[in-house]
Amino acid sequence: MRDHILIHINGKPHRIDGDAAFETLANYLRRDVAATGTKIVCEEGDCGACTVLTRRSAEDDYRAVNSCILNLAQLDGSSIVTVEGLRDEKSLHPVQEAMVQCHGAQCGYCTPGFVVAMVGMFERCDRPCDRIDEKQVRDGLTGNLCRCTGYEPIIKAALAVDGAPAAKMRQRYPSLPDANDSVQVGTFCAPATLDEAIAFKREHPGCTIVQGGTDVGVWVNKRRYQAPAMLSLAKIDSLRELREEDGTVVVGANTTLADFEAFIADRIPELAGIMAIFGSPQIKNAGTLVGNIANGSPIGDTLPYLFVAGAVLELNGGARTVPIDRFYLGYRKFDLQPDEIITRVRIGIVRDTLKLYKVSRRKDLDISAFTAAIRLAMTGDRIDRAGIAYGGVAPTVIRLPRTEAFLTGKSATLETFEQAGRIARSEIKPISDVRGSADYRLQLAENIMTKFWYEVFGETTTPRLAHA
Ligand SMILES: Cc1cc2nc3c(=O)[nH]c(=O)nc-3n(C[C@H](O)[C@H](O)[C@H](O)COP(=O)(O)OP(=O)(O)OC[C@H]3O[C@@H](n4cnc5c(N)ncnc54)[C@H](O)[C@@H]3O)c2cc1C
Ligand code: FES
Ligand code: FES
Repeated sequence: MRDHILIHINGKPHRIDGDAAFETLANYLRRDVAATGTKIVCEEGDCGACTVLTRRSAEDDYRAVNSCILNLAQLDGSSIVTVEGLRDEKSLHPVQEAMVQCHGAQCGYCTPGFVVAMVGMFERCDRPCDRIDEKQVRDGLTGNLCRCTGYEPIIKAALAVDGAPAAKMRQRYPSLPDANDSVQVGTFCAPATLDEAIAFKREHPGCTIVQGGTDVGVWVNKRRYQAPAMLSLAKIDSLRELREEDGTVVVGANTTLADFEAFIADRIPELAGIMAIFGSPQIKNAGTLVGNIANGSPIGDTLPYLFVAGAVLELNGGARTVPIDRFYLGYRKFDLQPDEIITRVRIGIVRDTLKLYKVSRRKDLDISAFTAAIRLAMTGDRIDRAGIAYGGVAPTVIRLPRTEAFLTGKSATLETFEQAGRIARSEIKPISDVRGSADYRLQLAENIMTKFWYEVFGETTTPRLAHA
């Protein structure tokens, strides 16, 4: 078992031993590599100033991630490109040149993050890719904040880029460290096989699995979280799986949110709509779907769909399976034994009438106050079966059995859904927190049923306010 971490930074090999492996990539870049173009501001994945590109395997492209919430150990075997690695000997990268020409920087603190995020967009779009459109730019920059230039010149710069002449980073920096083997540094382990991973978890009580680290990295930085041991599954190739099988999507524990989003774009477009407003590209390039499930937040954005689609979790490679609505036993309490790992999730592709909702204070890069999934199987205008899941109204995402039973067998009229909204309200006991008061959530729980009716059935009807 290897006892040190191997990474490449701008094409140069780095070996990291001992406690240094637990440093964040952003700190290592700035303090040890003097790559101070990478900035640190929020240290929680929200501002994008620390954006770098990473690549883990020969099949991958370089992808933009937040280096402030990744530690070096997690990145074993990765190649990293920082803002310093973008220009070649002769000239700036076309993205850098466009930022200069379009006056895309004032204080410049956010600028390296924007530049790297934009280069990431050109890395990922279909080849040859010489231009990106405004929607791609706006979506691609949701993870980057600028507090003084204003976004217009930055967006203009991205639109002005001619990406054709620039070599892709995978051509400039094609090599990866020779690091497919298992590694253990101190209390961190990234084994190459599932058996080793299960054994490590069994032998280290309280061990925390760290995948994208987009939750765990924030706890470490902001809550001084210290786990007795950490386990990464990133080297277990079989857990990278992402495929369609018998009307379900099978998603391995190593599948990133970004890959999942692309895979379901045509298969489950309603969920892809939620993924489009989930976090930022940097978060989705690092974070995993299974991490979102295992984190167990009652406002995890993928969960309401998974509940109404009857998703099933596979533990330890199939040794046990648990339907998702039985996995959560309380606030962040799970039906998961100390030596168990979620290895895959099998997600039904819903073809019934379906709507998903995320209510947050702003559209992009915000945590939900309330989430909902409403699914109906219909014959004509009769509801044969209803599936309703709400998030943000209880310690876990919940199904609403009384509302579902009320709707079953009814005609889909506005009055039915107004009544269903009142029942939904009576089924929940939300709390007040920084994202919304209990009263606000109760009102949302009621109104969302009426909103659903207008969106699905109400197109030919004159809308009226439910409580006019
Ligand atoms: C800036 C920012 C924005 C965000 N935006 C959103 C958002 O819009 N919507 C949303 O829902 N979430 C959001 N998140 C939260 C986070 O990105 C997601 O929950 C993500 O899916 C976590 O995946 P990960 O791989 O990074 O998990 P990690 O941080 O690696 O792990 C999360 C938890 O899951 C456990 N775990 C991971 N994999 C397994 C496994 N295979 N078996 C058992 N346990 C496991 C870990 O031990 C840990 O407890 C955001 C986070 C940040 C920092
Ligand atoms: S410093 Fe803000 S996202 Fe990393
Ligand atoms: S240029 Fe100052 S924060 Fe963006």
